[in-house]
Amino acid sequence: MNAPLRSKTVLITGGTAGIGRETARGLARLGAHVIVVGRDPDRARATAAELTRDAHRTDGARTGHPPTGRRPHNAAARATALTADVSSSADLRRLAEEVARRHDRIDVLINNAGGMNSHRRLTADGVEATFAVNVLAPYTLTGLLLPLLTAAAEHGGARVVNLTGGMPDGPIDPDNLQGEKTYLGWTFSQYNHAKTALMAMSLQAARRLQGTAITVNVAYPGHAHTPGNRALAMRAFPYAYRPAVPLLRLLGPLLLADLAKAARSSVHLASSPDLENVTGTYVNAKAQYAHWPASVLDQHNRDAVWTLCERLSRLTIP
Ligand SMILES: NC(=O)c1ccc[n+]([C@@H]2O[C@H](COP(=O)([O-])OP(=O)(O)OC[C@H]3O[C@@H](n4cnc5c(N)ncnc54)[C@H](OP(=O)(O)O)[C@@H]3O)[C@@H](O)[C@H]2O)c1
Repeated sequence: MNAPLRSKTVLITGGTAGIGRETARGLARLGAHVIVVGRDPDRARATAAELTRDAHRTDGARTGHPPTGRRPHNAAARATALTADVSSSADLRRLAEEVARRHDRIDVLINNAGGMNSHRRLTADGVEATFAVNVLAPYTLTGLLLPLLTAAAEHGGARVVNLTGGMPDGPIDPDNLQGEKTYLGWTFSQYNHAKTALMAMSLQAARRLQGTAITVNVAYPGHAHTPGNRALAMRAFPYAYRPAVPLLRLLGPLLLADLAKAARSSVHLASSPDLENVTGTYVNAKAQYAHWPASVLDQHNRDAVWTLCERLSRLTIP
């Protein structure tokens, strides 16, 4: 049973679509104020407005006082929008400054934005793009927001939730974290590698922040019918799978989880009272505890991912 989040502030990246938007919806319905981060200002603003309307409608249904069409005079906006491309170091810094101007604490940070690239490409900062979005951005945002997360200590502590994906139980190659040696853009390759590296970074962060009021946990949402999945280019699939892709696309809504199910693990880690002070855990698509992959438990791998994040972000998480 999820606890109401009244007076809590949640920041979620990739909150404008797919699993992120559904997670934001779930948390706004529980009473949180959700900061939705997306790349496009109009999309982010429209999402925040829709989530606010949805949360007030849900409140109305719960209290038996359906909304009149006007927002209740005492109802604050339940979601606001901020814009950033999380693959850009400058954008992340600008985002953190803006958040600090508007808020004195962040209770929950959900690093949800993620994705894959069929070909190796570098960001404007010179970082391999799959690593930048899936691993470096969660590290950097956690580091930049550390003062605001720490400020949540007096209000029950802060939670960082990172989203893994693909098949994240494979090996980690510490010498190929940015696909320098080989880059396989196929659906379950460099993306898997980055998501496993994200788990390694998250477990390391949990251990480093042990004893503070900040917990770090990882959610696996399961495969869901999201805009990101629907937009996957044919060349993102291994050759052998390509003939079946049109059929898979057609059957997507039947084969893949709906968004509410896919958001369950993130919502659980962000809000469950059972998880107060619980850190360094990994939950599966049913929000049940799962074992960390052996490659994540390997200290050498965790150190390699951590050191690279420190170097690329020029930030140290103590
Ligand atoms: N879908 C699945 O089956 C599945 C399975 C396992 C794990 N996951 C993981 O779950 C998370 C959400 O996946 P999803 O399928 O819901 O994603 P999605 O449909 O592709 O939506 C992506 C969201 O992330 C935002 N985003 C993408 N790149 C960004 C960037 N560089 N900077 C800022 N925002 C960015 C997009 O915002 P704008 O486009 O509005 O800017 C959008 O809101 C990801 O971490 C994904 O890896 C997904």
